[in-house]
This record gives sequence, structure tokens and C-alpha cells, in this order.
Amino acid sequence: MGTIPNRMKVLLIGKDGRTDALATACLATMGGPELFALTQFRSPGLLAKCSRVYIGSLADRRAMARVVREIEPDLVIVGPEEPLAAGIADELELMGIPCFGPHSSLARIETSKGWTRRLFDKHGITGNPRYRIFDSDQGVREYLQELGDWVVKPDGLTGGKGVKVLGQDLDGLDDSVDYINSILWRDGRLVIEERLEGEEFSLQSITDGESLAHTPVVQDHKRVYEGDKGPNTGGVGSYSCPDFSLPFLSENDVSEARRINEAVVNALSAETKRPYRGVLYGNFIATRDGVRLIEYNARFGDPEVLNLVPILQTDFVEVALAAATGELGGVKVIFDNKATVCKYVVPEGYPTDPRVGDEIKLQTGKPLPGLSCFWAAVDERDGRAYMTGARAVAFVGVGATMSEAESIAEAGAGFVDGPVMHRSDIGTPAAIDARIRHMAQVRATSQNVTALT
Ligand code: AMP
Ligand code: GLY
Repeated sequence: MGTIPNRMKVLLIGKDGRTDALATACLATMGGPELFALTQFRSPGLLAKCSRVYIGSLADRRAMARVVREIEPDLVIVGPEEPLAAGIADELELMGIPCFGPHSSLARIETSKGWTRRLFDKHGITGNPRYRIFDSDQGVREYLQELGDWVVKPDGLTGGKGVKVLGQDLDGLDDSVDYINSILWRDGRLVIEERLEGEEFSLQSITDGESLAHTPVVQDHKRVYEGDKGPNTGGVGSYSCPDFSLPFLSENDVSEARRINEAVVNALSAETKRPYRGVLYGNFIATRDGVRLIEYNARFGDPEVLNLVPILQTDFVEVALAAATGELGGVKVIFDNKATVCKYVVPEGYPTDPRVGDEIKLQTGKPLPGLSCFWAAVDERDGRAYMTGARAVAFVGVGATMSEAESIAEAGAGFVDGPVMHRSDIGTPAAIDARIRHMAQVRATSQNVTALT
């Protein structure tokens, strides 16, 4: 195992449960680095773990660089996408400071959906649905009619709120055309693609641009209400299994997703002449015709990384530093073969009309074995915690079985007092069975049906 410089200084940039989880992972590292955070509010998690917390913009490259110059960290770890899109990694490259998170030219894999679809085509990578990129409304109606079932995606970042699916968020052709025109008017570009049917999963691969360390596959829950009802969110809970796959996936599905992530790292390096350093997060869907790409993210998933941190055996700082400096090939990234279930507690009304500014309290008592708690959009003032409108606090249960992990996470979510809600169905046998049945149904349709195009 490599050695970490004495009292290494690590700066975390981020404002969410993911950043608190990464801080936890850093502190579990042997020798315990000195942690700093640049964030947007006084997160109780970051305040407790960092020797100094800076409150500032995560989208202003020069302001972030000023904080970096003051701290002089040995390593910077970026949580969310905004700092990457703003070019924090570009700035750190100029300063000669290792950054876990890719250069903005590589973060395009997340910041432009059209660019990513074209990258697949150009490099012969399988996984694209049928799609077209539009810069005007010419031919839009005809293309929608040709597809029959569609998804409309703004090209750029929308904080998980811009993608609209026919039948769920869009009510027929006219409603879709109205939405498309509003995006074209605002952004000038969008992607329209075939609606895929199947089960989604996330594969997060840590990479230094050459080697990839694939992490356990996780399934997120995007819809805010139980039974996958209600509006889309950034993700209100997730689970992973002891075999690092998911009960509805075949071995082939997982190896196909791994192969796609590997091909994308190579394509990115050919395209930009730079190594991709950080995490490549593929959001895939298993369909009757195989694995397809929904989208890429250039950072860990939130909540998906919350599932990984409690079962990571390898020192995270060692892994992040190796990825940031091109040395990942020498590091074995190991996880415990345990089940994990994450449940996010969110303010009532989230995501469309969330209550803001309410206090939440965590009942204290005997710590529950196997339970981790990560703070997200919560502001601490005078020792009290106030919600800021987004996901507030996450509980992750780790156990030998899914049901053990689920009941630990559920118990954790029950420790919160305040005007909050959470999905109690995540990770339950009934919810997982429903996914297995859905996938079986989707696969069955392929056996004796040939679609004529
Ligand atoms: P994204 O922001 O691209 O992750 O999309 C948000 C959600 O929209 C995804 O998690 C999917 O549930 C859904 N979605 C995106 N693209 C497609 C597609 N081509 N077919 C079906 N659902 C999709
Ligand atoms: N959980 C979805 C995301 O991190 O984008």
C-alpha cells in the first residue's frame, strides 16, 4: 500500500451529502489528512470534520483558486459537477496541484449530452439509443412522430430537472413541442431520443485516464414518492448488493457497462489528448436489446457514492491521489461484500415546493451498528440545523443481507424530527421484487418479437 505524505492537506469542494461522505472517507484514511472544505453553507458534517470551512461560490473559478492558494493543499477532491464545469481542474493543473475531478474539456461528457452521444458514434462505442440533436424546431414534429415514444433533454446541465419523458412529464405531441420550443429559445440546442424501457443502474469507475477501478453497481431512485411516483429528483435513495451487481442484471450487463466505461475513457483521451482523472459515472439502462447509456456524469453520484463509502476498504485518499496523479494502476480498490441501502430525508414539498428554513433534529441515543449518517443541504447556526430546501440528511445501512441493510437505514431515517419525508420502500424486498419482475417482463418481449423499422 502506498504512503500518504505526513499530515497531508486535502481540500474538498462541494455542498452536498456526497461531499460529507467523501470527507468521512478521507478521515478514515490511515494517518488522517487535515481536511478543508469549500462549500455553500455551514454543513454540520463538514464543520465537524474539517479544520476550516470556507463558504463561497462553487461556480467561480477565480474565487475557488483564491481559496486554493490560501490553503496550498496536496490534493483537491471535487464533489459535484458545477466546479468541474467552471474549470476548477483546469485552474489546479496550472497551479500544479493534483485534482480528483477532470479538466473541463473532459467534463463535457456530463456538461453536453449531445457531445457525448456524438462521441459514442465517432468512436464506434455501442450504447446510444436512437437520437438527434436539434438547433432549431425544423423537423422536430416529424422526428417525434418517427420515434413514437421519446425523451427530451436540454443539452447542458440542469441540476437533474431538465429531462422530460413522454407519458411521465410530457403529455403528448403538442406539450412536447411546446417544451422543446422553450428549451430552444433558452439554450438554442437540445437532444431528442428514443424512450428506452428497462431498469436503470449506475456504474462509477475511478480512473486516472488509463486504469479503471470499477466500483459496485448501485441503483438510484429518482422519483420522490414511494412506488416511483412524483417528480424527478437528484435521487432520494439507492442500494447495492453483496455481489456488487443488482438482482435484475446479468453478468453480461455488468461487463458490458464496464466495457463501455473503459471505451469512453480511451475515446476521451483520444479526443482531448488529456487523461480523465476522477470518476466516470455511467447511468445505464438494461433493455431487452442490451445495455444502453442514459447519461454520463463526471463525478460521483449523489446518493450513489454514499453506498460505497461505508464499504470501501482501501484508503480513499490513497485512491484519489493515485487517480489524480496517474498512478491508479498500482492501487487495488477493495470493497466489503456487504449490502447497502441509502435513504435520503428531504423537506416536505421537495423537490417542487420544498419547505425552507425549518429546523431538524437528530434524536441521539446509542449508535446503531452498521448505520452511517451524512449531512446534505442543512445550515448550522448556533448549534441547530436548518434545512435549505434540497435533500437534507442521508442514512446508509450496511448489512450482510439487503433486508438487514434496509432496516438499519429505515431506523436511521426515523431518528429525524422535523417537517420531513423519506421513501420507506427503498431497498425493501417488495420494491426489489418489482424491479426483478419488470426486467423479466422487458426481456421476455425480445424472445419472439421482431421490430420492423
Ligand atoms: P438524466 O438527467 O439524463 O439522468 O435523465 C433523468 C431521468 O430521465 C433518467 O434517470 C431516466 O429515468 C430518464 N431518461 C433519460 N433518458 C432516457 C431515455 N432515453 N429513455 C428512458 N428514460 C430516460
Ligand atoms: N444520483 C444521480 C446523480 O448523482 O446524478
